[in-house]
Amino acid sequence: MRTVRSIRTMQNVCREATARGKRIGLVPTMGFLHEGHLSLVRRARKLSDLVVVTIFINPAQFAPNEDLKKYPRDERGDLRKIRDAGGDVVFIPKREDIYPDDYETYVTVEKLTTALEGASRPTHFRGVTTIVAKLFNITRPDVAVFGMKDYQQAIVLRQMTKDLGYPVKFVVAPTVREADGLAMSSRNKYFTPSQRTEARCLFFALRTAREMVKAGIADCRKIEKEMRAAIKATYPTAGIDYIAFTEFSTLRPVQEIRKDTIVSLAVKVHGVRLIDNMKLL
Ligand code: PAJ
Repeated sequence: MRTVRSIRTMQNVCREATARGKRIGLVPTMGFLHEGHLSLVRRARKLSDLVVVTIFINPAQFAPNEDLKKYPRDERGDLRKIRDAGGDVVFIPKREDIYPDDYETYVTVEKLTTALEGASRPTHFRGVTTIVAKLFNITRPDVAVFGMKDYQQAIVLRQMTKDLGYPVKFVVAPTVREADGLAMSSRNKYFTPSQRTEARCLFFALRTAREMVKAGIADCRKIEKEMRAAIKATYPTAGIDYIAFTEFSTLRPVQEIRKDTIVSLAVKVHGVRLIDNMKLL
């Protein structure tokens, strides 16, 4: 496995691989990798010949009050995990190469970014689409793999891929969870063991929703009420940012559960904003 830090070298490695008829699979990450990320690497391994994993804590997607400075890092551990999962190249660009001081070009998906996460984090997706477009331009992947854990991010990036005409097969892989249901996230590392127990409130809420739907209840208002109760029962002081029932591809709000309905939520647990989601039918 090879580590590349220069944009030019990364471009050359990918160009040569493409010229030799190899399919390039890209897995963008911000590092501090867990099984969720590694499941994407393994998926890319199956779908391509040269698996490129990127590690870049992208300042453009963090608001000034967010956790950019303290975002966890473990480059050595990440390299070992990527090698074991079948990665071929790890691209770790420098901030000043990606965003030089005179940088001023951004990619924006207009409408899909206004709801859910976009409502609470108005500049977030602009940063995500910009970095992923740049990574697509540098690596020219045949396949790119993203996680369902960040459902809206996947929908927004899929739209960008289509709108800008990137010839990329866009793959969204399922959310990997801890044994107790908590969705894996690099931010889980911020928790003490007792806080970590309370972080399960998101999964409990989703499980409640799934059980109600299984029992034949389709009224989203009723389900939301029980989800809120489930959260408060586990973590009484939870700050619920939103619980939203939307149509999977358009993010349009729905009142009744249908086949394409997904429920998403964002909850602040001891100062850490967690998100999760689940298809209900
Ligand atoms: P990051 O949070 O590091 O996540 C990298 C990829 O791993 C994303 O596609 C994310 O959806 C996926 N992922 C995270 N947790 C997962 C889990 N528990 N199960 C399955 N997949 C999971 O998302 C980002 O970085 C950034 O926004 C990025 C796309 C790299 C742009 O900077």
